[in-house]
Amino acid sequence: MDLVVNGRPVQLDLDPETPLLYVLRNDLGLMGTRFGCGSGSCGACMVLVDGHPMPSCDLPLSAVDGKAVATVEGLGDPHPLQAAFLAEQAAQCGYCVSGILVNAAALLARDPHPTEDAVRSQLDRNLCRCGVHNRVVRAVLRAAESA
Ligand code: FES
Ligand code: FES
Repeated sequence: MDLVVNGRPVQLDLDPETPLLYVLRNDLGLMGTRFGCGSGSCGACMVLVDGHPMPSCDLPLSAVDGKAVATVEGLGDPHPLQAAFLAEQAAQCGYCVSGILVNAAALLARDPHPTEDAVRSQLDRNLCRCGVHNRVVRAVLRAAESA
């Protein structure tokens, strides 16, 4: 299997059914992407596949053969969203945040100046048990303003 992860070509000889999340964490050492529900329902494991946000916990490795995968580690150093999240203190435990950052980055790439409704709609699939949603929305809007 050949893919590009955060801009780096990667060749993997693994079971094609292995969930991408396990490959990222266990084989490539990219620990920023989190395991939450394991069934595609919480958004903690979101990555970008050819620029599209997708849960990686139920995505088999075979589905990303020949594609470009970006994780939170590959968003940019630092991405404007990261500075905005710090400024708004938009995390409590932080478990959900890497998935949110990835999904929000996809939104800003498509729509650099989204409305609040567009931000809320984009992040609808990202669950947060700590309830920081309003801070997260403010942070994404702040990042958009600073761009
Ligand atoms: S861990 Fe993948 S969506 Fe919840
Ligand atoms: S900040 Fe704790 S789950 Fe979102």
